[in-house]
Amino acid sequence: MQQTRLDTERIRAARRSIDPLFLDSPLYRCETLDPELGCAVSVKLETANPVRSFKGRGTEVIASELAASGSRAAVCASAGNLGQALAWSGRGRGLDVTVVASRFAPVAKLDRIRAFGARLELVDGDFDQARDRASEIARRDGIRLVEDSLDLETCEGAATIGLELVESLAKTPFDTVLIALGGGAMATGIGHVMKDLAPGVEVICVQPLGAPAMTYSFHKRQVVTTDSTDTIADGVAGRRPIPAVLDDLLLVADDAVLVREESIIAGMRLLLGHAGLVVEPSAALGVAAILEDRDRFAGRNVVTVVCGSNVDVDAYHRWVG
Ligand SMILES: Cc1ncc(COP(=O)(O)O)c(C=O)c1O
Repeated sequence: MQQTRLDTERIRAARRSIDPLFLDSPLYRCETLDPELGCAVSVKLETANPVRSFKGRGTEVIASELAASGSRAAVCASAGNLGQALAWSGRGRGLDVTVVASRFAPVAKLDRIRAFGARLELVDGDFDQARDRASEIARRDGIRLVEDSLDLETCEGAATIGLELVESLAKTPFDTVLIALGGGAMATGIGHVMKDLAPGVEVICVQPLGAPAMTYSFHKRQVVTTDSTDTIADGVAGRRPIPAVLDDLLLVADDAVLVREESIIAGMRLLLGHAGLVVEPSAALGVAAILEDRDRFAGRNVVTVVCGSNVDVDAYHRWVG
């Protein structure tokens, strides 16, 4: 494998700094989904933890490093889940955490960032404008800027999901892993581990058609930005891919596909109705990808990472009906 920025030994070591409650998340065959999707589906459930998403894995690595180096504060931009996770990890280690988010982010995410004790600053724009503001705060206050997907800890923390998947291969065989693609921490993390330790597994990233910048970039093999996003999958709605992350993604992902909003909603409904799982839209992207291309996945053993369940209840009811 060509070298990504990630390192498998460091990923193994990262596990030791992550609170065990984020580790060894359930992975199980979800047979009730099979007839609906035409393939064997297993779910890697990243929502059964205090922040209800996989982002705690990365923030645990960052917060433990910051605490060990005597740092007192950090700031990040967040679509909502990284901010909760950094707030949670920082609180446990006495760090002063500031989160910058879009004022249009789901209220449930914003409320929980505050509830975990972070200072929340809202910008009028979207996630990429929050990124700019977080950089300004870091420069002004001389504190650590946590940049999701660019900072290796965020990728290597998420990559511990990949280690767990590989370790489960004998018990729960799979040939394909579907990963929601936002900034790319999760896809490059899991992808790196797969290419290193289980290269026969196909790594497929999934984005909404309404937020396609990273997928376009993957196919063009160079950064493509977009002017706006339009999707209910707020966790993956970025416009400006990070070049170093794209370089890694190009080495470890086999494909990146785009799905329609109707398919994301159908995926959320299936996960509720057939798996008893309340998920946020980004976590239904994998199921949406199967719904959109049944022939491609027919007969395969697919793992989809159910990566978050932070939803505004009213919006959820509107979507799922
Ligand atoms: C629920 C959920 N899914 C997927 C993603 C995308 O992950 P990444 O930014 O690592 O690509 C995020 C990012 O915050 C998320 O919160």
